[in-house]
Amino acid sequence: MSLNELLAGVRVVGVVCNQWGDTGKGKVVDVLAEKWADVIARGTGGANAGHTIVCDGREFIFHLVPSGILHDSKGKVNVIGEGVVLDPCTLVDELSQLDRAGFSCDNLRISHEAKLVLPHHLVLDRAREFKKGTGKIGTTGRGIGPAYEDHVARRGLVVNDLLNQDAFVKKLAKVLENARLELRAMELDEPVLHEIFNHPLLSNGTFYHSGKLFDEPAIVRTYMEDYAKRLAPFISDTGSFMRGTVGKKNILLEGAQGLLLSVDHGTRPYVTSSDPSINGLAKGVGLRERDVQLCLGIVKAYMTRVGGGPFPTELGGKESEGYCNDHSHNKEFERSAYSHVPLNAQNDLERGIALRIKGQEYGATTKRPRRTGWLDLVALRYAVQFNGPLLFLTKADVLDGCEEMRVCTQYSYTGPDYWYGETLLKSGTLLDRFPVDSSVLEHVQPLYTTLKGWNTPTHSIKSFDSLPRELKEFVRFVETHSQGKMCGLSNGPDREDIIFF
Ligand code: IMP
Repeated sequence: MSLNELLAGVRVVGVVCNQWGDTGKGKVVDVLAEKWADVIARGTGGANAGHTIVCDGREFIFHLVPSGILHDSKGKVNVIGEGVVLDPCTLVDELSQLDRAGFSCDNLRISHEAKLVLPHHLVLDRAREFKKGTGKIGTTGRGIGPAYEDHVARRGLVVNDLLNQDAFVKKLAKVLENARLELRAMELDEPVLHEIFNHPLLSNGTFYHSGKLFDEPAIVRTYMEDYAKRLAPFISDTGSFMRGTVGKKNILLEGAQGLLLSVDHGTRPYVTSSDPSINGLAKGVGLRERDVQLCLGIVKAYMTRVGGGPFPTELGGKESEGYCNDHSHNKEFERSAYSHVPLNAQNDLERGIALRIKGQEYGATTKRPRRTGWLDLVALRYAVQFNGPLLFLTKADVLDGCEEMRVCTQYSYTGPDYWYGETLLKSGTLLDRFPVDSSVLEHVQPLYTTLKGWNTPTHSIKSFDSLPRELKEFVRFVETHSQGKMCGLSNGPDREDIIFF
């Protein structure tokens, strides 16, 4: 089936990730944004997402603007929906980048109801992670959790408050009162506070006040003078626009993060603070899930995870987690120290490193090395229940030359007796269902099926039939064990390296 056949009669498409984020959905989004969509909308997360786009040999890393922004001059509308937590500092910077590169943003629309990220959100996010020691969530430090918390606690500011200085000042005073209480209770030393505040996203320390912790007038000045003026022309009621556009134009909903990081359905507490499922995404742009006619659930041919939290199929297990949490193990270090290690290395930690180097698995936002592991179909079966059965496989080519690969189909519980819903888990209990409770997931041993790899490079192949037999078997195996249906795969970094079937 071609892309055109897949999309025949469809007006609203969602692209979401079925793993822990970073599955390469950006490429599918880019292709759809360019070839099909009239409107491209984001509805969840914020500047914790990172998306690299190469256009005419120039590389852009965006965190907030939707992926269709480079097609603005063709009249495509890019929407930042009400479910997004919007850091104006990041967005203003992205708009300047686009400006300098000669791209227009005339059709960008920012929801007046998007949640506003304020300096105290970034400060609290960083301070909490600093305090934690062990058991860190390993957040991106972009203030995402505290921003959503203010929203749920019914005190948060929204983008519309940028348009009304008096309201902004009043509401800011209230949220800062609360933030001061929490920050004071942490009893951080002055040098630590300085370090936390001294960050480019916090105007390099200008928001810090040694007595009051937050310099309110400095925050108001920056938000009103630097951000409100720049963003005001783009702010509008995007929810009404989206609802009015359904059925009339081609709408692409661009997911962020992944189902397993969902605050509602993910591996709590090691999750982000939004719901990246198709449900959360639709809601975040002001639509209903049933408005989405086609949902593509992205599945990478292997798994990655950034930050803390259980990862049953991780290559190298705990050793890998510790290794990846050392941020000096970055791309440059691994390239020079480990480039000789083959994908078929005997040692699992090394194999994971080889996979990371080949798959370029380093965070676009934080540059952190991503933990790598085998494809987990217990987790995928679970994700399919939320995002639907239609799947798209990415980075299959990264596994080219892998003699054999393991795929997890079931877990064996290894922990102490523990009630999980209606089941008393005992050591040796077999689990077909994905347990989102991290204290269960930390105690499971993955049960693997070993599949034969393929030796031929898949990169230039243009049809499903021409793929190596072993890759076709891999695709069918994933479908059978996830109750999903694969509609295509990507077999290389370029936009052309994509097959629909
Ligand atoms: P936060 O979203 O910054 O609060 O981070 C919470 C958790 O989600 C951490 O484990 C992050 O590493 C993870 N996370 C957030 N955004 C992304 C993403 O875009 N890709 C992968 N992991 C992410």
